[in-house]
Amino acid sequence: VPPSDDVTRDIEVLGYQISVRPGLVDEVGAATARVAPAHKYAIITDENVAAHWLDRVRDSFGSLSDKGDVIARAIPAGESQKTRDQWRDLSDWMVSAGCGRDTTVVALGGGVVGDLAGFVAATYMRGVPVVQVPTTLLAMVDSSIGGKTGVDTSAGKNLVGAFHHPAAVLVDPNVLATLPPRELRAGLAEMIKHGAISDRQLFDDIVGAAFDAGLSNEVFDSTDSGFTALISRCAAVKARIVRSDPKEAGERHALNAGHTVAHALEQVTNFSLLHGEAVSIGLVAESAIGERLSITVRGTSEELRTALSRVGLPVEIPEGMQATDLVRVMRVDKKGRSGAIRMALLAAIGRIARGEQGSWTVLVDEAAIFSALSAI
Ligand SMILES: NC(=O)c1ccc[n+]([C@@H]2O[C@H](COP(=O)([O-])OP(=O)(O)OC[C@H]3O[C@@H](n4cnc5c(N)ncnc54)[C@H](O)[C@@H]3O)[C@@H](O)[C@H]2O)c1
Ligand SMILES: [Zn+2]
Repeated sequence: VPPSDDVTRDIEVLGYQISVRPGLVDEVGAATARVAPAHKYAIITDENVAAHWLDRVRDSFGSLSDKGDVIARAIPAGESQKTRDQWRDLSDWMVSAGCGRDTTVVALGGGVVGDLAGFVAATYMRGVPVVQVPTTLLAMVDSSIGGKTGVDTSAGKNLVGAFHHPAAVLVDPNVLATLPPRELRAGLAEMIKHGAISDRQLFDDIVGAAFDAGLSNEVFDSTDSGFTALISRCAAVKARIVRSDPKEAGERHALNAGHTVAHALEQVTNFSLLHGEAVSIGLVAESAIGERLSITVRGTSEELRTALSRVGLPVEIPEGMQATDLVRVMRVDKKGRSGAIRMALLAAIGRIARGEQGSWTVLVDEAAIFSALSAI
């Protein structure tokens, strides 16, 4: 079935577009040369992605790649590479390859590559264009959109970085065919979150489609055209929110639903949960907290728990974990000021709650957190 125009339409962000189209991986070269023409193109990827997709992307530059104007570097995979050391090595590599200001960076990979390569581009000779080619579901609907780039330090994640919007985001759902199912599910948690904060119908469609497709049996066909449409709708949610709040001063905080608890879970488990898995548990936990505060409609947490567990995501606080440990981490979460804990809570599925003076996060007292965490 050929995808409808609605599926393949381009999504406007802030002067750049997200294109979602099966087969786009073979058009990266042409699309990049159109939106960010350059003398040299530097593809940055990781080893897992390179094994499956780098040749296709390099070939898509056609005769340019024969002339040696397309260079590529694959770093080892994983969050441990999102460092200033790797930023320096990549920048040095570009210098020694003769990249000048007329270079475009192509970030081919998940959120790690996107954030890192985006930051290299943001700083290389005071900034060169980057084209994001996300290859994880999380990157397609979230991290590649909105211009946040950066690296981690030993003191925490994303502590050094810059806003640097891409020249374009090129999403080819076909590349998800090689993504491990656990990573696919983790991305699905963010998609479900996009629905939960903004669009009840989208929420129902994602959960229904994922379940019908048998995601819980690991035979999910991510290249299905119905799924392409859902990716597109989720990317559009992120794009709309980024448009309304380019510098994360307001509505963008809504994207952090489930994330206060998720960040605490990630830290306390020493990042043994994938981010999306932590978000899944966080969505259930934070709506239980919201229900206790009479901010979230009763039954929301239960509905989220059912939906997320149906698609194979974890929904419970890992056994043996103490609420006190989680709360201690939440007190220093960057959204909180002076130790107070704030969360982006749902009013109901499809709608975010607003706090004092219209803020997008709500002050949460610790008693409600303890009571909710001990109950779920
Ligand atoms: N900039 C933002 O706005 C933003 C938003 C959310 C998350 N992030 C960042 O994103 C990062 C997480 O991103 P992620 O979940 O995509 O993780 P990731 O980039 O580590 O990718 C997950 C794993 O999948 C592999 N992989 C990626 N695409 C593949 C493919 N098509 N086939 C086979 N293997 C593939 C990778 O090599 C890696 O092992 C974190 O560093 C987080 O801070 C940034
Ligand atoms: Zn997230």
